[in-house]
Amino acid sequence: MTTVISIRPFSEGDNQRMIEIERLCPQGDENCAMGVDKKAIIARYKMYDNWDVLVAEENGKVAGWIGLTLKTAPEQKEKYAYITEVMVDPAFQRTGIATRLIKEAEKKAQETEAAYAYCYIYEPNKASRLLFEKMGYSKMTGIKFPGISTYKKLDVPPEYSIKTVDTKKIDDAVALINEYNSGFTHFTPFTGQTFESHLKLVPSYGPENFWVVRDMDSKIVACAGLWDSSELFNLCYAREPAAVKAMKLVFGVLSHVTKVPKFPAEGEYFKILYIVDYAFDKRQPDAMMALLKYLNNFSIDMRQDFLMAMTDPEDDLLEVMKKLKPQTETWNVFAKPFEGNLPAFSQFYVDIRDMVP
Ligand SMILES: CC(C)(COP(=O)(O)OP(=O)(O)OC[C@H]1O[C@@H](n2cnc3c(N)ncnc32)[C@H](O)[C@@H]1OP(=O)(O)O)[C@@H](O)C(=O)NCCC(=O)NCCS
Repeated sequence: MTTVISIRPFSEGDNQRMIEIERLCPQGDENCAMGVDKKAIIARYKMYDNWDVLVAEENGKVAGWIGLTLKTAPEQKEKYAYITEVMVDPAFQRTGIATRLIKEAEKKAQETEAAYAYCYIYEPNKASRLLFEKMGYSKMTGIKFPGISTYKKLDVPPEYSIKTVDTKKIDDAVALINEYNSGFTHFTPFTGQTFESHLKLVPSYGPENFWVVRDMDSKIVACAGLWDSSELFNLCYAREPAAVKAMKLVFGVLSHVTKVPKFPAEGEYFKILYIVDYAFDKRQPDAMMALLKYLNNFSIDMRQDFLMAMTDPEDDLLEVMKKLKPQTETWNVFAKPFEGNLPAFSQFYVDIRDMVP
């Protein structure tokens, strides 16, 4: 039988088959790979105001897909595309399907006048890196994912008041977030209204999961939200890195004498809360530390095992989090220009909607 590959728009009936494919598609190499589980492939796309998912069929059977969304730079000048994912059933890999899908997605992006496209690639995902490099993408920056195990309650210094945001005073937090991220590539400053919409748009987030820290003078000095993304996706190590295996051995011994972090088994899903929309007065890193300790205790109360942030490698949060001994993963940002030059990706703002793997 001759092979016929066709590419068509996603339809709701594809969901089950796509979930099956994603389960067969850990992202990584033979030593370390991330497994992803979702209830609905399309749920993540509803956070964007536009999106396209293109499905590849080989002789009538879904073999893979690609997704993208078009974004606009703050000055409303430049449009650019975010490639959310590209996935090919292992039974159909290395036959050029991902290459075809990327070309189609790029065509769509260019039709909508995107100046460039970018995507995230998990550092150990060699197949994906080689694929995108072959398609003309280059590494722009490495986004850090520091994760701390939340297993031991920490003392929160009493000189700060830490409360969930009062939506009538949301503008104070918005001013701090805007100042913290000012000048970062891809950052669009919020208004009180757009920030409230953002809190509501992201599933399982909302103002009840966003905290502000005030100092003795009642001045806002830090803020952060916690996002439970398990409604959209769950992550596990499909193949666990050697460093984690080694740590488990050490903690296994220590567990007889003290409290130790919980590490899920290979294939067991992490219980993670993501630290999002954080900002702090850089002269007062202690205020951010107080908030991290508070959120650590909250995570324990919520029976979660990890807090994780997503940050530019130069972000000041990394310095603060270092004291809590995080394990840090890297996802590289790759990009390709369609016209002109790429913007500088140094001091890169991470859009939390892009964090669904
Ligand atoms: C990455 C992935 C999408 C590639 O799909 P594919 O249809 O097999 O890719 P193609 O056949 O178009 O490959 C094009 C080129 O990419 C590179 N490449 C793709 N897979 C590779 C692999 N496993 N090892 C090394 N190079 C690879 C090669 O240069 C290849 O060209 P070649 O086959 O002529 O050597 C697929 O492996 C996959 O679904 N992986 C799991 C999910 C994932 O990691 N997705 C990306 C992040 S969202």
